[in-house]
Amino acid sequence: MKYTLLLSALSFSASIAMASDIKLPAPRTAGGKPVFEAVAARASAPSSAFPTGKISREELSTILWAASGKNRPGKWTVPFGMGLEPYISIYVAGEDGLYRYSWEDHSLRQVSGGDVRAKVSRQSFSASAPYTLIFTSDRTPLKKAGRAQEHWAKWTHVAVGAMTQQVYLAADALGIGARYLQSLDADFIRKATNQPDDEETISILPIGKR
Ligand SMILES: Cc1cc2nc3c(=O)[nH]c(=O)nc-3n(C[C@H](O)[C@H](O)[C@H](O)COP(=O)(O)O)c2cc1C
Repeated sequence: MKYTLLLSALSFSASIAMASDIKLPAPRTAGGKPVFEAVAARASAPSSAFPTGKISREELSTILWAASGKNRPGKWTVPFGMGLEPYISIYVAGEDGLYRYSWEDHSLRQVSGGDVRAKVSRQSFSASAPYTLIFTSDRTPLKKAGRAQEHWAKWTHVAVGAMTQQVYLAADALGIGARYLQSLDADFIRKATNQPDDEETISILPIGKR
């Protein structure tokens, strides 16, 4: 009995922090390109010559933080309705696997070990971008706050607009190109992320160092 309890305790702790999870380094929160210069330079990287240079873990950390990291107690770098916890999940598809960004402890939780970059997008250039960020709705904070399902799409789409714009600006300041895509394989992403029927994939964003 004791032995069974010990085993289930061990497998529970393994499921919340797998060896392949990644604790991200601290994001960059100062300096860089002045914000008006970043706004003036904002542009999508061309799909015909998309940048494919490697992105460091520090750079990825900064980009994810800019998208929905914490920037003060109980609040985030982009606005979420009613100050709710982020109701968008960001998945990161890279050479080494598929991860879900955890803003709670600024880490990446591994979802699977395979390279799915070529499968999440319907545009071939994404396969050679070092990472593709995948933005999906997360019903949990919305349900917890009692928001009716008819409002979810408006809230989640607005949030992804803010998040992806923030990524464009932070990425540019780091010399990284990004492109917002809606030509994505929603069925594949649903299966790969075990997405419930009432959640949706809103966009994907390949990123690569120039
Ligand atoms: C809602 C939306 C959907 C988009 N979908 C795609 C897409 O599926 N494939 C693509 O190559 N670019 C896509 N884009 C990028 C646009 O083509 C690009 O933003 C537009 O040409 C303007 O260029 P700019 O971002 O450099 O200003 C999308 C952009 C938005 C805002």
